[in-house]
Formats: sequence, structure tokens, C-alpha cells
Amino acid sequence: MSEKHSVSIKPARNLLGSLRVPGDKSISHRYAMLAALAPGRSRFDNFAPGADCASTLACVRALGCNVERDEKGAVVIEGLGPQLHAPNAPLDCGNSGSTMRMLSGILAAQPFTCELIGDESLSRRPMKRVIEPLTQMGAEIHSNGDRAPLRIIGAKLHGIDYSPLVASAQVKTSVLFAGLLAEGKTTVAEPARTRDHGELALRAFGAEVERTKNTVSIAGGQVLHPLEAFVPGDISSAAFFLCAASIFPESNLVIDGVLLNPTRSALLDVLAAMGSRISIVRVEESHGELVGTIALVPGQGRHVRIEGALTALLIDELPVLAAIAPFTAGGLEVRDAGELRVKESDRLSAVTRNLQAMGAQVKQTDDGWRIPGGQHLHGAEIESYDDHRIAMAFAVASLRAEGETLIRNAGCVAISYPAFFEDLEKLVER
Ligand code: S3P
Repeated sequence: MSEKHSVSIKPARNLLGSLRVPGDKSISHRYAMLAALAPGRSRFDNFAPGADCASTLACVRALGCNVERDEKGAVVIEGLGPQLHAPNAPLDCGNSGSTMRMLSGILAAQPFTCELIGDESLSRRPMKRVIEPLTQMGAEIHSNGDRAPLRIIGAKLHGIDYSPLVASAQVKTSVLFAGLLAEGKTTVAEPARTRDHGELALRAFGAEVERTKNTVSIAGGQVLHPLEAFVPGDISSAAFFLCAASIFPESNLVIDGVLLNPTRSALLDVLAAMGSRISIVRVEESHGELVGTIALVPGQGRHVRIEGALTALLIDELPVLAAIAPFTAGGLEVRDAGELRVKESDRLSAVTRNLQAMGAQVKQTDDGWRIPGGQHLHGAEIESYDDHRIAMAFAVASLRAEGETLIRNAGCVAISYPAFFEDLEKLVER
């Protein structure tokens, strides 16, 4: 669990300068899990530094793989192949839904039984979404009313055609990982397109993955090869600085080496609609993932509405977009974001309460918010609800508030971005 300290944030004049953000969390989880299944030595530079990916590494180690940091700080994993070792204690996924859901896909196909546990927040989150398809594929899974702890009795799996009801990259990836280890072909038909790092990572490790407009298929029994890769900077972490810069007319921000995968970069279109001028240079491809440099200069924009497929693509950026919405010219409306209620905290209510504490006008609906622009907010005591993205989103909003803001239980930023407050201070001008 995160450290329970408070951080106080003073108002700023603007954000100026350049930085690199930590390696992408979604990609790091997937690379570590697939490295376990690829016999031989995989090596990842810029592996995500937060507690979430450390949970995945600890699980991979407990499943029999040697996991180390080399002299350059890169993560090195000695993969075992499709069959892992039975752990001798429950696998602790900490706060990480990605670890629990995606690893379940691999564990469902193992010739042993194991238990997956998590912290208080993770133990509240819905797991039926992975229990259902993995059970259909042949595993037996016991849970606490469709929540953790999960007891997974692995089996010889068979491929399925699966159409999840929720748009979830974690579910898609979990089923594809199980599909890799199953007999026959597995197809997932998504209700809305979600991030495709699972597919790209499988290909990077040598598997063939077929895609149509809204389906992804994998044939079981493919053998992976190890991978050496540099993990691109996490655009969901960059989002906090980009959003902060966008609300000060004099800002000028450059972020280097950021993930630009189109299933993750919709934030840039939203910030452009909100008025920022964004340029992207030095774009390269690395194992199927686009990486480049983003430069942002703020400006006055229009009202923005995020709904439907766009909501699914922006799911992790919605808290910070909502936190800056009062300072934008046109305000923001978010719809179809009911999934926010089952993230690390109920992010829908957490954002509403914190905005209200700062004196903002905000209308919370069943599945989103309506937040008028052109508002003035004041400093307040903010509750992180032990949710890293809530703490960081409101650190950003605090920069434009009048007076000082106290973010309570701010240590949870270490889930995805341990050096967040230090990096923010480096860019802020007062
Ligand atoms: C993730 C997918 C999203 C996202 C999470 C990471 C992933 O969750 O919120 O932070 O790496 O696949 P869902 O798939 O549950 O929407």
C-alpha cells in the first residue's frame, strides 16, 4: 500500500521546459508477462518504475523466472517457456488490475493451481470479465463473488470466440494470452477499440496475431522468442504535464520519447480541440509501437464532448481532463464513462468531490460529467482516495487555483510515477 503523506501545491505561472516520462505501464506489464513465456533472456530498458509493474515482476519471479536489473537499470527476465512453475505462496498483485486480469490468462493454462490476491482497492474490482471467458476456455476459477482473491485451477485450454460486454484491453489481452497457450484458435470481438499493446507485444515476441476492424485472433501453441526492447515513455503520465501546460497561456512544453500509439494518443486531439497547438516530431517505430516528441503551446479552444468509442480510448486521461476542464474556455462533457467507477477508486465521484472542494461547478451524470469552462477555483484539501491518477490530476488543477492546495495520501503516485512531484516542480514557474 502507498505511503500516506500529504503534498502541498502552490499556484504556478506556467510550465516551461522539457522532460522524459517513465516507461509505459501497459507495455511494461505485457512485456514482462510474455518474457516469462519466451524461453531465454529478454531485456527491457526504461521499464515502468512504479509499484504496479513491480507487482507484475514479483509475480513473474514467483512463477519461477529469474528477474534482475542489469548495470544499466534495465529489467532482465529469463523466460521459461509456456509452462511456468507453481508458486509456493499466493501471487500478490498489489494495486494492479492489469497484473491480476492479464496474468490470469496465463495462469488459466498452467498445470497447477494458484491464488491471486490484491490490496483493498483491487479486491473491490470486478473480475467476472476475465473469469467468464477463461472458464469457457476450460479453466476453473473460484473467487469471492467475482472479486479477488482468485483461485485459478489451470487446465488444458481450448480456443473460443469471445465478445466481451465491456471495452477492456485488459480482458482482450487476458483472453489472447490464454489463447496463445490454448489448443485451436481464439478470437476476441471488441465492442469498441481499445489499446492494442497486447497484440503488438505478442507480435514483438514472434507470435502471429490476425486482426480485422474489430476482432483479434491468435492460434494456440505458438512458441515465443525473447525480446530486447526500449519501453516508450508513458503518454498517460505525460498527460498530466501536457494538461498542466495547456491551462497557462505562457507555457511551452516538450516531452521526448513518448508513446504515440494511436489507441493511446487521443488526448492530443482533445487538447488540440481545447486550443493547444501540438507538434509531433522525430517519430519512430519500436516493435510496432510509435514513439516521438510532443511539443505543446497553449491557446483558446472550444467546448469538447467525449463519448462512445473515444471515451474508451481516453479512459485513463479522463480524470486529468476533468480536473483542467474548469480552466478551459469551452468546458468539457464526458459520457459513457461508467467504467471510471470501477478503477483504482470510483474516479467519477472522486473527481466530482475534489472539483467541488475547489469551488468548481460540476454536474455528475450516471456515466460522466458536465463541467463548464471559464471558472476560478480555490485551493482546498484534496483526497486522493489512494488513487495515483486522482492525486496527479488534482496536483495539476492546484497549479491554477487561487491559494495553496493540500493533496492528502499523495504517496499513491508511486503506483505509476514515483518521481511525479519532483518532475512537476522542475517544470513549474512561479
Ligand atoms: C489497461 C487498460 C485499461 C486502463 C488500465 C490499463 C491496460 O483498463 O484503465 O490503466 O494496460 O490494458 P481496462 O482494460 O480495464 O479498461
